[in-house]
Amino acid sequence: MKLTEYIGSQFGNPQGILGKICCVIMNTINQKMYTQVSDIVLKNFCIDILDIGFGNGYLEKRLSKQPGVVIKGIDISEDMIVSATKRNKKAVEQGRVVLSLGDCCNLDFQDEMFDAVTSVNTIYFWSDTVKGLTEIKRVLKDRGIFVSAVYSQEWLKKLSYTKKGFKFFTKNDYILDGKKAGFSEVIIEEIVNGKSYIVKYIK
Ligand SMILES: C[S@@+](CC[C@H](N)C(=O)[O-])C[C@H]1O[C@@H](n2cnc3c(N)ncnc32)[C@H](O)[C@@H]1O
Repeated sequence: MKLTEYIGSQFGNPQGILGKICCVIMNTINQKMYTQVSDIVLKNFCIDILDIGFGNGYLEKRLSKQPGVVIKGIDISEDMIVSATKRNKKAVEQGRVVLSLGDCCNLDFQDEMFDAVTSVNTIYFWSDTVKGLTEIKRVLKDRGIFVSAVYSQEWLKKLSYTKKGFKFFTKNDYILDGKKAGFSEVIIEEIVNGKSYIVKYIK
């Protein structure tokens, strides 16, 4: 495997030391995404939140500071459970952050459990986008919201390490897949023009 492909694979399933380093890089470059996702769920008074692909638990640390919020998270990487648990030690002990191994295409949660589902930069790695979105819709309460922060495909395609393991989507793809999964509305809001945006899926 080429070095660039190996680095790319670490974003989709971070493991070991390199996985940890990639997560710290993400924490630095994704600040605007974390802020926008947090602002949306908190403005909508969401209390029961599920985060898909939490990585090293940076968003959990931020959201769990809000009184009353309980954030559950799933990730396919066992190493990320260790990292995110360490980062959120106190909140995990208090049951305000609950982290487990899981794949968004097959969620181990009952129907209509969450006010909001969040995800920062994970949709490119799901094995089946519509299945993942359908599962997310299932676990959302009525009129619940899925907030997904993504980089544009134009931006991702400029990066050497995205050649393998990343799926690329246009804005229209996100809208069509959201509709296929049964969401009533899909709204796109720019974060940085041409580079990154939020896709809001309303149940
Ligand atoms: C690019 S990282 C983003 C991490 C974190 N959301 C952040 O922005 O700091 C993608 C994360 O999604 C996880 N992931 C990839 N596919 C997944 C899936 N199908 N279900 C759940 N998590 C997944 C990876 O293990 C990784 O931790």
